Amino acid sequence: MTQRVAILISGSGSNMVSLVKAMRAADFDANPVVVLSNNPDATGLQKAKALGVATEVVDHREYKGDRAAFDAKMHDVLCSYEPDIICLAGFMRILTPKFVDNWSGKMLNIHPALLPKYKGLDTHQRALDAGDTVAGCSVHIVTAELDAGSVIGQTEVPILDGDTAETLAARVIEQEHKLYPSALKDFITR
Ligand code: GRF
Repeated sequence: MTQRVAILISGSGSNMVSLVKAMRAADFDANPVVVLSNNPDATGLQKAKALGVATEVVDHREYKGDRAAFDAKMHDVLCSYEPDIICLAGFMRILTPKFVDNWSGKMLNIHPALLPKYKGLDTHQRALDAGDTVAGCSVHIVTAELDAGSVIGQTEVPILDGDTAETLAARVIEQEHKLYPSALKDFITR
């Protein structure tokens, strides 16, 4: 059965665009049903609209730190689209265990590092500071612990002499755009 996929973003949404385009290509039994952002100014929202995907905003600032209420609202909005799978794609809010439990085993995230290395933020700078010769990106199942769920796909990217966090990020995100659709497809056909 065609899987209904909701995508959560906070910013530019380039991974969301790659997911939507891949799902619409032949031989991908999934359909993007909504793009939800916590940030009303996320430029990804315009990209989703241009692709003809429904958009929703649940602005976390209106919840003044009440994460449970924010997550409950997101859950309600998402449920109205009856998604089978949630893809976090540059979604920059930490989710409550209750929200994660509600979508247990059905929520994926892309992270710009070779997990279990460099959970959290500033992954590229941390890889450079550590003197690593290889960086990369990972897709994993979301669990309540940040960036800690099972990895279902990973791509390595070499670190080159003279790389900065910016040049490395640019090379890694190109691979993210390939990895996330292929990991989602594997997840659906598992
Ligand atoms: C990506 O690097 C992703 O791995 C990280 O946040 C960034 C989002 O970029 N979680 P975009 O919004 O998909 O362009």
